[in-house]
Amino acid sequence: MTNAKKTVVVGVTGGIAVYKALDVISKLKKKDFEVHVIMTESATRFVTPLSFQSLSQNIVNSDMFSEPKAWEIQHISLAKRADLIAVIPATANIIGKVANGIADDLLSTTIMATKAPVVFAPAMNTNMYNNPIVRDNINKLQNLGYKFINPASGRLACGDEGEGKLADTELISEYIQSMMYDKKDLQGKKVLVTAGPTIAQIDPVRYITNRSSGKMGYAIAEEARDRGAEVTLICGATSLAAPFGIEVVSSRTNEEMLKEVLDRFNEQDIVIKAAAVADYKPKQYSDRKIKKAEEELNLTFIKDNDILKKLGTLKNNQILVGFAAESNDLLENAQKKLHNKNLDYIVANDITAVDTGFASDNNKVTIICRDGKTIHLDKMSKRQVASRLFDLMK
Ligand code: CTP
Repeated sequence: MTNAKKTVVVGVTGGIAVYKALDVISKLKKKDFEVHVIMTESATRFVTPLSFQSLSQNIVNSDMFSEPKAWEIQHISLAKRADLIAVIPATANIIGKVANGIADDLLSTTIMATKAPVVFAPAMNTNMYNNPIVRDNINKLQNLGYKFINPASGRLACGDEGEGKLADTELISEYIQSMMYDKKDLQGKKVLVTAGPTIAQIDPVRYITNRSSGKMGYAIAEEARDRGAEVTLICGATSLAAPFGIEVVSSRTNEEMLKEVLDRFNEQDIVIKAAAVADYKPKQYSDRKIKKAEEELNLTFIKDNDILKKLGTLKNNQILVGFAAESNDLLENAQKKLHNKNLDYIVANDITAVDTGFASDNNKVTIICRDGKTIHLDKMSKRQVASRLFDLMK
């Protein structure tokens, strides 16, 4: 991702979660964003501006009428400079002010004066958050195009349990990066991705599966989301956390995955099958746990559905992408799959490579296009592989 030179103005308002905004700023700095901080007067009572200044590496702005440090009027210059304004944490007060056109301090005037997108990460007591006045204000702002990162549920600083905890700082930083992503070429497109291993159940306690972690499919889904697509991720048995802004559908077996994919296939623009689908299942599922008996245990397996092949026969205008996991004759085998399954692209993976592939964050792949064009990519992050794949579809 290229965030260099992009400016995020972080508005910090007065709540106990103020200290967590420091963590978000640190994460944004690590991703190369330029960060400017505006603190409200009450925020400065929780954490001193010095901490924010040190992490953002910029003077913290809080007073509208302070001696200007440059010739520009502060709220106008920050409003213009911002590529995005993020209010972390956002109190009921700042939400109420912006929703009702009140601009009486540096943060509210900057928000009022900006043309940049504004995102609020609310944090407050549950009863405040559920107060119909706050809800009305949030709805009103959402209808006007302001974004909200919903608070989490849990034990709040005041001792109450419920919704109102500031969302996870990792999630907030990812949300901001997603909004600021340079490429938005999938806006208006529907993308379906499958990820992770399926399982084939043997008896109530045993199943067979494979080593796929699902990371490649998740990276593809996140790339598509950040480029503006409406994304559905149909995942097998992965333990990865559901990414924000993506509809995640769980399916454990080949049959379940087939059903979930077919239910949605017609409405998609792009379908990418990164899942490692089990090709065989036990001929007979035993309802009872198989007991230890003879020295040898033989199980018979029968072929299961080839989901991608089926999609290849049904496809009309969808761009269809498959993966080829190979231990030998990589390109030859991948090419065969591209044609047999009627694909537009196939991403060939050498599963014997150390350091890439299964469970790794990196991958080294070759992408083959329908017209025979072959693109060898060096080892790179799975997210970068995803980006190169979508670049090809332009
Ligand atoms: N695939 C599928 N259904 C299956 C098997 C595979 O949809 N039953 C999809 C995978 O998601 C992948 C592509 O087909 O996109 C190729 O999967 P791969 O496991 O590499 O190949 P197979 O078709 O299973 O062939 P083989 O096991 O002989 O390599």
